[in-house]
Parts: sequence; C-alpha cells; structure tokens
Amino acid sequence: MTATPINVVILAAGKGKRMRSELPKVLHPIAGKAMLCHVIDTARALGAVRICVVYGHGGEIVPHTLAADDLLWAKQEPQLGTGHAVLQALPHLDPALPTLVLYGDVPLIQVDTLRKLVALAGDDTLALLTVVMDDPHGYGRIVRLHGQIVRIVEEKDADDAERGIREVNTGIIVAPTGALRRWLPQLGNRNAQGEYYLTDTTAIAVAEGIAVKAAHPANGWEVEGINSKIQLAALERIQQGNVARRLLDDGVMLADPARIDVRGELTCGRDVSIDVNNVFEGRVDLGDGVAIGPNCVLRNVTVAAGARIQAFCHIEDATVGANSVVGPYARLRPGTELGEDVHIGNFVEIKNSRIAAHSKANHLAYIGDATIGSRVNVGAGTITCNYDGANKHRTVIEDDVFIGSDTQLVAPVTVGRGATLGAGTTLTRDAPADQLTVSRARQVSVAGWKRPVKTKK
Ligand code: UD1
Ligand code: CA
Repeated sequence: MTATPINVVILAAGKGKRMRSELPKVLHPIAGKAMLCHVIDTARALGAVRICVVYGHGGEIVPHTLAADDLLWAKQEPQLGTGHAVLQALPHLDPALPTLVLYGDVPLIQVDTLRKLVALAGDDTLALLTVVMDDPHGYGRIVRLHGQIVRIVEEKDADDAERGIREVNTGIIVAPTGALRRWLPQLGNRNAQGEYYLTDTTAIAVAEGIAVKAAHPANGWEVEGINSKIQLAALERIQQGNVARRLLDDGVMLADPARIDVRGELTCGRDVSIDVNNVFEGRVDLGDGVAIGPNCVLRNVTVAAGARIQAFCHIEDATVGANSVVGPYARLRPGTELGEDVHIGNFVEIKNSRIAAHSKANHLAYIGDATIGSRVNVGAGTITCNYDGANKHRTVIEDDVFIGSDTQLVAPVTVGRGATLGAGTTLTRDAPADQLTVSRARQVSVAGWKRPVKTKK
C-alpha cells in the first residue's frame, strides 16, 4: 500500500428511502460487508491521510457501527445537498492536501480508477470522474465547450440540448482543499431541487481559471450507485463475479464462478477446488489441495491441507485438520477442532469439542463439550449427554477407545485409554482403560409371548 497524500470525504448522509428499510442505506451489506465499509476500505487502500465520513440520516447508528481510530465523522443535519455535505467535512481536512469526494452508496469504486483520478489533481486543478452512458437519464451532465469542461448541469435543471449529452458526472471528484474553502460557502441553492450542489463548483473553478480535467473508471459498475434493493442485488452479483474471477486468477478451481458466494474473506492455498452453491462467511482459510463439495456453508473456518468437505455441510467457528473428511451432511458448530485424518460422517453434530488424529464418527452422533483422543471410533447413534438441564459437563474419551453404537455418555464422564463400550451402553460412571464396559440389561426371550391385538368396538 502506497500512501497517497490526500483527504477523502465520503458522503453518507442521505436517507435512502427507496431501500424501504429501517437500516440506514449505507449499512446494507455487499458481499457480507456494509457498503460504506467497502468505500472506507478503498480509501484506506489508497492510503488516504484523512478519511471523513459525512453522516446524518439514521442518526448515530452509522458512526456507532463503523467507529474506527482512523475515521473522522461530520454530522450533516439537515441534508441540504452534496455541496453542503462536503462543507460539513471541511474543518476535518488537511488544507494543504487535495480532497477526494466519494459516496457511501457507490461501493465498488476501485483503487486503480481513483489513482488515475488523483494523478490529475493539483493545486490548480479540479479532477472529475466522468463516464459516457447510453442512457444518461437522472445524472448530472458534463457540459463542454471546444472540448473543455465548463460546467455540470443536473438532469432537473438541464434544457433539451443538455439532456442529450451522454457524458455524465459520477459525483467523484478531487479538488484542492483551499479552493473548496473558497467555493463551497459561495454555492447558492436556486435550482430545481433547492439544494447546494457540489457540481456547481465546476463552473466556479472555470471562472477562476482553474483547469478542469476528467478521468474515467475502468468499469461501468465501479460508479453505479445503490438506491434500491434491485440495485443492491445487481451490485452484489457483480461483486461476487469479481471475487470469483480473483479466485480463478489465483488458481482456485471453481465448478461454476456464477455459483459461489463469498461474504467475507476467503483465502485458498494451491489446488483448492470448490463445487457449486457454497457460501463462505467471515474468515475462511482453505489449505493446499482442499476440496469443498456442493452446497456447504462455512463461517469462520480453517481447513488444513488435503481435507475434504463433502456435500451439504454446515461448519461454523471450527478448524478441520489435514486430510480429514467431513460429510456429507455434517454439522460442525463453534469450538469444533478436528485433528489430522479425522472422519466425520453424515448426520453428525459436533460442538465445542476436540477430536484428535485418526478418530472417526461416521454416522448419526452428537458430540458436545467432549475431548476425544486419537484413533477413537465413535459408533453410530452415540450421544454425549452434556447438559443436565442446568449446566454443561465435559466428556473425555482417551486414545484408542471403541464406542459401540447407540451409547449415551452422561457427562461428566471419562472413558479410559483403550476401553471398549458395548453397544447400547448408558455410561454414568467412568469406564476403566482397556476393559469392556456394558450397561445394557441381559437379553431375554419370552416363550409363548403374544403381540396385543386390537379390541373390537
Ligand atoms: C449527484 C450529482 C450528479 C451525479 C450523481 C451521480 C450533485 C448535485 N449531483 O446527483 O451530478 O450525476 O450524483 O450519482 O451532486 N448526500 C449527502 N448529503 C446531502 C445530499 C446528498 O450526504 O445533503 C449524499 C447522498 O447520501 C448520496 C450522494 O450524496 O450518497 C448523492 O446524493 P444524491 O442526492 O443522490 O445526488 P444525485 O441527485 O444522485
Ligand atoms: Ca443518487
């Protein structure tokens, strides 16, 4: 990251009425992260010296949610326009550095595009990010004379000829901060919307003889704003496409780049393969050679090299050891730590438990608050009764234990090294090492016993 000697102002005071939501617009997530947070992170990646967020609508929720040491906050109340919004931020800015204006609801702007724009900036230059659109409806138009930008006119204030202009204002600008101090207090609001337009600074700059230059985004979606859930959903897809492309570039094999959702940070080693319809949330780390089957959800998970997660697993706050095999249909809940070469099969639920190397629980089990050693076999239908209705207790199963099917381990209880529990055992006291412990009743057969028959009414 190279530091850029620049202030960044992020406008985020608007209401976002069309989102039809209690949540302030800029806190709605894209790829699992508040849209305003994308813009803040981009400003950070640019290496901005100061970042000031202008907030207003939704009150203190926005600064409370996103508070960080490197952020400055300026409250704009009431919201009288984009020029008025930037004016609120001015006292927070370093007057010796230029100021870049970004928008909390334009989340996918990229650092490379901003670098191109910032490269145009200077003490006597106003730099605008503009784009040519097939349908410019609704945007401010860039008015040029002999090729030079002379002003910006808003859609609602434009005449027919101006509405025909297809080069539009993205709203993103870099201006000398000293100039903003002169210009912003001069803005009037005698226009169709009765607002103080930031865009009117362009004509003022031209009148002062300051050069106005334009740069353009590398991709159209970088400057798309979000005003509705439809636009939010569209940019979510674009961002997921970006993430998928980055993964493919890094050598990850995706069965279908259109069917992966990364809502956080996914890092992958070499030769990782990911089948369709997986959701990755929070921080997920996949080691070399890891394979993820279709339809899994992984949230804050580390999967070590060579492990396989098979179809339909749900894994949260857990670690999976090297060369382990999980699923299909397994649920690993918070606090699960699997060692190397552990096998967890279908309909097995594990919570707050450590299972050491080469152990297996292949069918229909609940393992909660347990510490399980190496080379343990947990039979089908085994349950740790970890909860007595008031408190949770631990189950300890030492190395080389064999647990027969349909066993209940009533915690707190310990099964000693090398012990075997017979099928159907309800273990209420510790089982000694190397012995067979069985608790079930002796099998009897009752001669002459008849099944009950239905009584006639
Ligand atoms: C603005 C531009 C327009 C440009 C368009 C691109 C102006 C006058 N017009 O129009 O040229 O084509 O963006 O999308 O700047 N905001 C505040 N406080 C305010 C007003 C707005 O924080 O008082 C924030 C809003 O939350 C929003 C952004 O600024 O994120 C843009 O405001 P909006 O009113 O939507 O401007 P547009 O009419 O879209
Ligand atoms: Ca807008």
